Amino acid sequence: MTDTVGTSTIHAPEEEGPPMRAQAEDVPYFESFNPTTGIRSPRAWFVSDAPRLSLNGEWRFRHSPQADIAEDFAAQGFDDSGWTTMPVPSHWQLNGYGHPIYTNTRFPFPVDPPRLPDENPTGDYRRTFSVPDDWADDAVVLRFDGVDSCAKVWLNGTTLGVIAGSRLPAEFDVSQVVRHDGPNELAVRVHQWSSGTYLEDQDMWWLSGIFRDVTLLARPSGGIDDYTVTAGYDHTTARGTLRVDAGVDAHVLVPELGIDAAVGQDIAIDHVEPWSAECPRLYQGTIATAAETVPVSIGFRTVAIVDGVLTVNGERVVFRGVNRHEFDPHTGRTVGEDLMRRDIEMMKQHNINAVRTSHYPPHPRFLELCDEYGLWVIDECDFETHGFFPVKWKPISVNPTDDPRWQDALVQRMARMVERDKNRPSVIIWSLGNECGPGRNLGAMAGWTRQRDSTRVLHYERDWTCQYVDIYSRMYASHEEVDAIGRHSEDALDDPILDARRRQLPFILCEYAHAMGNGPGGLWEYQQLFEKHPRCQGGFVWEWIDHGLAARSATGTDFYAYGGDFGEEMHDGNFVADGLVFPDRTPSPGLGEFKKVIEPVRITIDDSKIVIENHYDHISTGHLEFLWTLEEQGRTVTSGTLRSLDLSPGSTGALPRPPLPPTEEEAWFTVRAVLRNRTSWAPAGHEIAWAQARTQAPHATTRSGAGRIPPRRRGHTIELGDGVFDGENGRLMHFGDLVLEGPRLDIWRAPIDNDRSFSWDPREPAWRDLGLDRMQHRTDSVELDHDELVVRTRVAPAGTELGFAVSYRWRADADGLGLALSVEPEGDWRVALPRVGLRLSLPGTLDRVEWYGLGPNESYADSQRAARVGRFSATVDELQTPYIFPQENGNRMGVRTLCLRTAQGNGLRIDGRPQFSFTARRWTTESIAAAGHTAELQPTDRVWLNLDHAQNGLGSGSCGPGVLAPYRLKATQTELDLVFSLAR
Ligand code: GAL
Repeated sequence: MTDTVGTSTIHAPEEEGPPMRAQAEDVPYFESFNPTTGIRSPRAWFVSDAPRLSLNGEWRFRHSPQADIAEDFAAQGFDDSGWTTMPVPSHWQLNGYGHPIYTNTRFPFPVDPPRLPDENPTGDYRRTFSVPDDWADDAVVLRFDGVDSCAKVWLNGTTLGVIAGSRLPAEFDVSQVVRHDGPNELAVRVHQWSSGTYLEDQDMWWLSGIFRDVTLLARPSGGIDDYTVTAGYDHTTARGTLRVDAGVDAHVLVPELGIDAAVGQDIAIDHVEPWSAECPRLYQGTIATAAETVPVSIGFRTVAIVDGVLTVNGERVVFRGVNRHEFDPHTGRTVGEDLMRRDIEMMKQHNINAVRTSHYPPHPRFLELCDEYGLWVIDECDFETHGFFPVKWKPISVNPTDDPRWQDALVQRMARMVERDKNRPSVIIWSLGNECGPGRNLGAMAGWTRQRDSTRVLHYERDWTCQYVDIYSRMYASHEEVDAIGRHSEDALDDPILDARRRQLPFILCEYAHAMGNGPGGLWEYQQLFEKHPRCQGGFVWEWIDHGLAARSATGTDFYAYGGDFGEEMHDGNFVADGLVFPDRTPSPGLGEFKKVIEPVRITIDDSKIVIENHYDHISTGHLEFLWTLEEQGRTVTSGTLRSLDLSPGSTGALPRPPLPPTEEEAWFTVRAVLRNRTSWAPAGHEIAWAQARTQAPHATTRSGAGRIPPRRRGHTIELGDGVFDGENGRLMHFGDLVLEGPRLDIWRAPIDNDRSFSWDPREPAWRDLGLDRMQHRTDSVELDHDELVVRTRVAPAGTELGFAVSYRWRADADGLGLALSVEPEGDWRVALPRVGLRLSLPGTLDRVEWYGLGPNESYADSQRAARVGRFSATVDELQTPYIFPQENGNRMGVRTLCLRTAQGNGLRIDGRPQFSFTARRWTTESIAAAGHTAELQPTDRVWLNLDHAQNGLGSGSCGPGVLAPYRLKATQTELDLVFSLAR
């Protein structure tokens, strides 16, 4: 049995069982199953008052193409004057050595675990340091927070050990080796590839080096080496329980709670405020001995699965989550605290309440910030063996997940994460890893974790039996399947016992709504399932950030590079760019849509009242203010504030709609829920949720026919009102002073990533096969019919009988030049169409755009909840969304009126009868489709305008379900009615 999911295929265990090849003798350390040696027992990550010395900075550096070179550089006194330097932390590929490689699942070397090719780029690092004078009595520890992928470390010529586990901490006790009376020489050899690489095949750039902090720690005798805070909350009594274990005789002080107790005691507190992602209440305290004081932030919370539902503090939680890789477009996975804060603040501002640390433990500071700002966290182990899927597990590449020889390394990885992050209240779920297939080593990792920490639940997606974990998790399951799971009627597992168990587990989508390029569509339909089925507890959009690396073209234009841009012999192109934010953290329209879909307060408006539903799990709506506005044709008539409504979590209330003054034209009433006060992540007035209702319909827009001007032939042209048409093909050539390339039917769009051939719903190949990108136009007749100019054409691709009979009926009257377009499909059209509408071009000077319709950002049929009715303006350049891989973008729907003007204010106005969609840009659809990078888009001196009846939806087919049925653009009889007039 095989099931295709995500980007890979799961193979049932009976298909496995490849012969295990014996491990060769005498392999180098970096090719052994568990290279890590010499490191201290893993412990909590914290900053105490014990002295520390950052060893970040410029280190001496030498890069070699092979790993197998003499270790003489580790000797004391080695002359490194011929070397260059390398910043620590950083990746050497982003600092002039080697180049980044992007593969999704495939290993960029032969799959022959744990062996590696001779070509194994290696970086040798050296630096000196002096131990501060006042450390003389202390033990000294050297800590690496992250080295990719394997490092051997020496101090003063003595080998300390070897680190593997790129995103995991490693500490060496250097007390016996460190010199207090003179300079110390630290030498580190880092290999790009190691046996650990087989366990670290995450979908991201391959980037090497000492990429997180290096710190020297004084460890005072009698200090606190490690501690565990266990802080529970009983939601039935509001009582807190606290226990701190420290392995030494230390004291716990939490002044706010009056706690002054020895460690190792169970402390009951009559009343505490719980910690939640929505209200991240932390109590500040200390754990102290005479020698060391550790500040601690304690969050009381209890995680439990009750009746198949994951709860925190007794409440069901719904994850409005994202998957976050660590990424900076200039420094790769070396990220500073500023960027961590920026990510978290942006998440909070966009109603996101959860993060899965895909697919490795992040910098530990990030988790402290999650405690502080409030985010639920799935902390994931540094473990992914996805590259074993493409080789189907055979014949020699045994998946490490099920090979006992890897077990120690894997359990150790889990322990290093859990021990490091165990004191973080934000971490409520441990994840064993990602996409490693099924296997017994998962059982060993889970077993170790359960005995160490009973206060959290376990997650792993890629063993659908869920035998070792507490949550049923899937990625990219369709809406239909999620609905079935929600109804407990999912397909059965072969094993009835496991099936019965899984059927009772809470369900999450650890990845969904693949945010690659333009999209995702269909978010709202998922959200409705999360609200409908108690078991379906939300999900984590894939993913937060596009991993485009900052680059500059030969002509000096900045752009973002992706797989293949560094000459990699094997790569997966722009699949690395699939985030809700661009690499520089500019939000993409998909993030705006996600924010709207997951708004924690839902507002609905009817004729008499405003209904407010509180979808927060833990807090009331007391922190919100409800503001309203009445707009007529997008212009504010009046506004006010509703009285406050303090609804408890999960409850619904209503407020009367305020009396509104009369309006003549189309009018909309908008209610916005905004923050009453400033928070750590947003200013007062920040918008959380909103809704609109129409209070006055537009006038029926039937044309009066008053002042009709009949068409006239004049030589080779036809004149109609302000329009001059080509008498042969009936196309509009001039409108007033404007030189146009007349509107004609357009059904093509520059394919979006979700349309492309790797999509689960590949539309582009079908479209191109049919020739929708190269339609041919034939003029059948150009007739003057009473007051109308009627142009009939047939538009069809080569080599097929499919086509469209198109008529353009033009008439001129006091309103302007009217066009009624009618499109009738001929033949058996079986594909959804990219778009149906008109394309024309205008002089490039008409680059100021105003519209009354949906905005301000782009919208598509299945991604338009974030768009509101209003009056908006932008330049043509501002209308573009610079998706890293150029594709259709910038569509505005529901447009009643559109004006494109020059700087002098004259130009073209288009009114919909009643509505249309538009895109306007300086390049053609064809040039977008031909471009691979934004820097390749060359502006022309025209503005290319599409006026559409509709476009096909977006879906999330680049890795997930395609466009849902209601949003597919079927080939059916279509009418589009527009009026063109001159804007002055
Ligand atoms: C999943 C995987 C992610 C990413 C995603 C596609 O299968 O877990 O790491 O590769 O697909 O972008």
